Amino acid sequence: MGKYNPAPYQLDLNRIPHLITESIPGPKSNAMHARAVKHYRGLSGQVKLFPVAFERGEGCMLEDIDGNQFIDFSSGIYVTTLGHCHPKISEGIAKYAHQLMNAHDFTTEIKTRLLEKMAATLPGDLKCFQLYDCGTAAVEAGLRTCRAATGKHEFISCFMDFHGKSGHSIGLARMTKFSGPTREPGFYLVPRPDTYRPLWNRPDGSLDTEKYLEFYDQFIRESTTNQIAAFVAEPIQGWAGSIMPPDDFFPKLKKFLEERDILFFADEVLTSMGRTGKILCCEHWNVLPDVVTLGKGFGNGFPVTAMAVREPFADAVDKISASTSYGGNPMACAAALACFEVIEEEGLLEHAQELEELFRKRMADWTQKYKIVGDCRVKGCLMGVELVKDQATKEPFDAAGKLVYQKAFRKGLAWIPAGHILRMSPPIVMPNEVAQRGMDFIEEAIAETEKELLG
Ligand SMILES: Cc1ncc(COP(=O)(O)O)c(C=O)c1O
Repeated sequence: MGKYNPAPYQLDLNRIPHLITESIPGPKSNAMHARAVKHYRGLSGQVKLFPVAFERGEGCMLEDIDGNQFIDFSSGIYVTTLGHCHPKISEGIAKYAHQLMNAHDFTTEIKTRLLEKMAATLPGDLKCFQLYDCGTAAVEAGLRTCRAATGKHEFISCFMDFHGKSGHSIGLARMTKFSGPTREPGFYLVPRPDTYRPLWNRPDGSLDTEKYLEFYDQFIRESTTNQIAAFVAEPIQGWAGSIMPPDDFFPKLKKFLEERDILFFADEVLTSMGRTGKILCCEHWNVLPDVVTLGKGFGNGFPVTAMAVREPFADAVDKISASTSYGGNPMACAAALACFEVIEEEGLLEHAQELEELFRKRMADWTQKYKIVGDCRVKGCLMGVELVKDQATKEPFDAAGKLVYQKAFRKGLAWIPAGHILRMSPPIVMPNEVAQRGMDFIEEAIAETEKELLG
């Protein structure tokens, strides 16, 4: 296990923000964006709000086509957890780009090495894998596996979870943007504990996890056909705004599910590979999922994802026609293997935990200092700050979210907040000084926004 060395990731903070155009996005970005959108539709809200065109990334730095440099506080979209263009990962991909790009599902040496590494690194008896090219495909395979393993066909997931945009994975979430019904029969949604917005509290005011489980019990008995194959959950809800469960939720949920022969399927597409300071986020609570999906940081930008299944359920994977055209291709395997090695060799889990402390300290007094800050939360390098119109009513403050986003971007921070929640997910390789500078930009943007909106 190596020790973190900031030197390769250090940025010259005298040059960051290195903003060389008068306005951001600069003229080249604006012109390029105008050309692209003549032919490209379906842009995300963040890009519409800030149409910058990127050209280069190195570690924690992103550069646009005007030459402006930004601190990366989003890792793409939770993807480049180990920073941009890590030499070891790039070399691994390049080697197989020259040697062997695709061999369908046949065995290759690089795939075997990756599988062995995963078996040695993932907790417990999560020792059976299949590889995919996007998170959604891995989630779909996970659902098929749960059905094959249990002979049951229904699923429970949680409001505000996100698991992908294909037929069944949409059914696990509450996507309001699609026209028409998105959830097939047998896909049920339940509330999950959110420490900032609890539904049920104990008399002392703390969140009452038991009440959620009592609700699930009643819900399963009265509102389903009791054919639940699995409970599917993001350990921390990423898309929804880094919403963290209380520490007792997943341990108690796992026991609850075991008592009812329901599998626990953790979708760790976003939270795995060091994002929260562990390989799997569930490790924070010593909870072993029966099925788990890994993605995003799994290939650090190369499209590769995985489904991992506990040994007792491994035979089910043989029954679901699990393989795909691109899953497990040699370039993908080289990228993923390099990611595991880099995390280990560079001591990055420990560094992510160190960054968590830095971020926690940094945000500790924000709810006292700023009226528009309702809640701040962090696990590893996954953060959320909720902006509210009123700290008592907790009414979401979308206009503030938009302004803070644009202001911090103009200062030199590339990131992806959503609505009233500031979502931050910097690469876990980030040196402490760079992290502090990024937080300076956000804090300044919050202070300026509060002044502008509240006077
Ligand atoms: C938890 C989770 N599951 C699944 C997905 C879908 O992954 P992909 O976009 O790679 O298909 C995402 C994407 O954001 C995600 O956050």
